[in-house]
Amino acid sequence: MTERGTAVVVGASGALGSAITAGLRGRGLHVVAVARTAPEDSDGVTGCAADIGTDDATAAIAAAVAGTPGPVRMVVQATGLPPAGPLERIEPDALGRAVALKCGGLLRLVRAVDDRLAEGSRVVALGGHFGVEPAPYACAAGVTNAGLANLVRQLSTALGPRGITAHLVAPGPADTPRLRGLSADAAAARGVTVEEVLAERAAESPLGRLVTPDEVAWAVTTLLDPQAGALAGSTLSLDVGARRGIF
Ligand SMILES: NC(=O)c1ccc[n+]([C@@H]2O[C@H](COP(=O)([O-])OP(=O)(O)OC[C@H]3O[C@@H](n4cnc5c(N)ncnc54)[C@H](OP(=O)(O)O)[C@@H]3O)[C@@H](O)[C@H]2O)c1
Repeated sequence: MTERGTAVVVGASGALGSAITAGLRGRGLHVVAVARTAPEDSDGVTGCAADIGTDDATAAIAAAVAGTPGPVRMVVQATGLPPAGPLERIEPDALGRAVALKCGGLLRLVRAVDDRLAEGSRVVALGGHFGVEPAPYACAAGVTNAGLANLVRQLSTALGPRGITAHLVAPGPADTPRLRGLSADAAAARGVTVEEVLAERAAESPLGRLVTPDEVAWAVTTLLDPQAGALAGSTLSLDVGARRGIF
């Protein structure tokens, strides 16, 4: 289905954000691609430099969206967290900074485009499986992703009367440079290779593999469908079957 309108992706130059940007372009949307270093303008893509951890981002995104076509059909918070270390070493204030970046950033993003949202618009945040399955080696990611699930529910409740829905997409470990970097730290600490750590993570899935950026982009773009309104406020878990719990 071809869409008319605009999408805004924060973290658009990242492994997942760039796949999502391509997916949204494939659905016909103009994309405002946001990162601290502005992604290059290209056909149907407007680059925007903004640090979503600061209030200046709201005005910068609003300015980039001005003059783009139609309603803002989707916003995506796909910002990457800076490395903060495991539970035993994390600086306590780093937890607050991580929540401020991802959750505060989601609010800035929504406020930047609020007057351009319309019935059927989607607010999407990328969380992750550590939000529901805590792991001490991913301390800040777990706390932040749990907070995002709560905030997404709040946004869906608040925006619902306008026909706008909010969603959390929670990938398991994805085959990306970010995961490779995190795994390199874990490998060094244990004296094993990165490949061994990645193989262990893949083995958690009954399919024996990691989720791919393309699969994350598919999930996000599918939320454009009118039928996805039934998923308002919920979490889409993309963990390739790795988690065994019911929720
Ligand atoms: N990769 C995985 O295995 C995985 C699994 C589950 C969930 N996730 C979540 O998915 C998200 C994206 O992951 P990824 O692998 O695509 O990360 P990534 O490749 O490291 O990309 C991070 C993106 O965020 C941007 N960014 C970082 N800080 C920013 C800021 N303050 N303001 C605006 N943009 C900022 C970066 O661009 P600049 O540096 O230019 O700002 C880049 O575009 C993360 O939140 C991650 O927790 C990832």
